[in-house]
Amino acid sequence: MKRVFSGVQPTGNIHLGNYLGALRQFVELQEDHECIYCIVDEHAITVPQDPKELKQHILDVAALYLAVGVDPRKSIVFVQSQVSGHAELGWILNCASNTGELYRMTQFKSKSQGKESVGTGLLTYPVLMAADILLYDTDIVPVGNDQKQHIELTRDLAIRVNHFYGKDTFVVPEGRFMKEGARIMALDDPTSKMSKSATNVHSRISLLDDNNKIKKSIMKATTDSDGVVRFDVENKPGISNLLTIYSVLSGTPIADLEKQYEGQGYGNFKKDLVEVTVEALTPIRDRFNEIRQSPELIEVLKDGAERADAIAQVTMKRVRNAFGLGL
Ligand code: AMP
Ligand code: TRP
Repeated sequence: MKRVFSGVQPTGNIHLGNYLGALRQFVELQEDHECIYCIVDEHAITVPQDPKELKQHILDVAALYLAVGVDPRKSIVFVQSQVSGHAELGWILNCASNTGELYRMTQFKSKSQGKESVGTGLLTYPVLMAADILLYDTDIVPVGNDQKQHIELTRDLAIRVNHFYGKDTFVVPEGRFMKEGARIMALDDPTSKMSKSATNVHSRISLLDDNNKIKKSIMKATTDSDGVVRFDVENKPGISNLLTIYSVLSGTPIADLEKQYEGQGYGNFKKDLVEVTVEALTPIRDRFNEIRQSPELIEVLKDGAERADAIAQVTMKRVRNAFGLGL
């Protein structure tokens, strides 16, 4: 069975983009793959965090994983900092990477834009991500489009290390991206991606938003003035983004939706999209509330960390040996 690894940062506001681009794949893959899903708390501290809030957000993401359908009997679910191999392999891979390739990462460029100096973690973060993936001999990494460049770097590092230290040091992984939903755009500005950190709460739909908030955000969503429900990312990015969300959540092809709303303007379309979204998110929210309070959540994470650590230790032994570290 092929091995799958992915992670989400526990930084609050898990949104529809995270769900449609990544989490949805987690559930799909666990049926016929060996899946490992991580809450990457060591990534979250690349920017300052309130320690109390971070602890809560870790449990929030864990509960959301389970609420969307990740099944701990099929998949390993754990918190990154509970397995020390991530940090250790992160260091080793730092020594196999160059500053040039890290400065080239578009996410680093946008986060450091206009600043003379930023936290070192922001620069070396993709190396830690590579460590997360390579630590488990991962074959497939289900993520959104914004992670493409980081996956490429992971592959480059794996190939480079294999070249210098032996071809069986690392498995070279591949990214997996959804055909629809790999890049959900902000509702208030369909030219930038939906993000956890945008200040306008109506730019995103968080998975735990109540029905009123969902309605407000969708009804306010930026569209255009020609009133035609048609998929055209270049000229109609707002309505195209809403069509994608509608199509994926309802399972109706975009072409069918275009026909269904022909000659109707955006009002009815948006109203129905509210309904489709509420219907999709209500059961997730209900399950989340149940799981988040249950003492079993901690047990799932402890058990997950033990199983993940057992795999990680085997890799670390091989890697230390390949690099000539230790006795
Ligand atoms: P993050 O919130 O950065 O931890 O991202 C968690 C996962 O969600 C990653 O696989 C991202 O690629 C994915 N993701 C984040 N934002 C979006 C978006 N707007 N559309 C689709 N996928 C996304
Ligand atoms: N960098 C990813 C993001 O911001 C999160 C992440 C960290 C990740 N480590 C990973 C995703 C390993 C996939 C595999 O979305």
